[in-house]
Amino acid sequence: MPMHQVITLSQFIAEEQAKHPESSGNLSRIFRDIKLAAKIVNRDVRKAGLVDILGEHGTMNIQGEEVKKLDVIANDIFIDSLSQSGDICAILSEEEDDFRPVNTQAGNQGKYIIAIDPMDGSSNIDANVTIGTIFSIWKRKSPLGSEVTLDDCLQAGNEQVAAGYVVYGSSTMLVYTTGSGVNGFTLDVSIGDFCLSHPNMTTPPMGQICSINSGNYRSFSEGMREYIDYTNNKGYTGRYIGSFVADFHRNMVKGGIYLYPASEKAPNGKLRLLYECNPMAFLIEQAGGFATTGKIRVLDIQPAELHQRIPIIIGSKDMVEEALRIAHPNR
Ligand code: AHG
Ligand code: MN
Ligand code: MN
Repeated sequence: MPMHQVITLSQFIAEEQAKHPESSGNLSRIFRDIKLAAKIVNRDVRKAGLVDILGEHGTMNIQGEEVKKLDVIANDIFIDSLSQSGDICAILSEEEDDFRPVNTQAGNQGKYIIAIDPMDGSSNIDANVTIGTIFSIWKRKSPLGSEVTLDDCLQAGNEQVAAGYVVYGSSTMLVYTTGSGVNGFTLDVSIGDFCLSHPNMTTPPMGQICSINSGNYRSFSEGMREYIDYTNNKGYTGRYIGSFVADFHRNMVKGGIYLYPASEKAPNGKLRLLYECNPMAFLIEQAGGFATTGKIRVLDIQPAELHQRIPIIIGSKDMVEEALRIAHPNR
């Protein structure tokens, strides 16, 4: 792309906002803070093997999972950065027990709530495999100036005003939606900015990739086992990184389906509704795909708790329909 055609993330957001003067929300400052945090985390990830930030932190999170050092580092970086703008009233993080009210001393004037999975795919960190950050943004219901409530935090995915992810892969990308399509930006480290590289991302209605941890085969329902047999017979390509962000990104670009179903071991699946499933469901629908639990559209779920897990089937529309037909015939 010739130099004069480079569009940075900030430029793009400003132009999008100008197209929708009626929209009351001003997300640009929040994106400025996400962008800064993403650049700092990117810097740390890129030198992870050289400094002492690989390995375990030595604690468990509220969900009983081992916490990696980079989980904590990324969590702190995003929380510090996101607390700055004054536009946010609460931060929900996969790594924190409860929601964290912010800007309380400034009079609770923040209009938005943000949920983050600061480091997704953390079991892959030590092996230098692609990892990411996922975020989801919605508006509070309670009046400005009052204390943010749990009710404000527990809103359905269809209330999201923005969602996205950063993928720290062979290049670093930030992909997001505000409900009018999906756009992807690649970090150009030489100029230190995210530049539009994937305008108007859509996912093919049908693909060839199926991503599932088939090590859990025996623990899946009969219908799900039947579906896995079907994909094998069809000759779909099996691809499973074990970083949801990375599996999702590849499948969105190429066409495919990602499943983390319920199993005997994990009756509600593994992925978290607020930090992982809702943002990705918003993105995939905006890209022309679909996301369901097998019974209900992900974006229609009324969350009951902050760390709720759900089973998920997400990706190319026709592939999700195929999976539903075979794995969940009586839904
Ligand atoms: P996190 O690293 O944020 O805890 O998320 C891990 C998730 C997700 O990224 C990935 O797709 C899935 O766990 C992998 O789980 P399995 O190892 O059970 O397949
Ligand atoms: Mn995750
Ligand atoms: Mn995580």
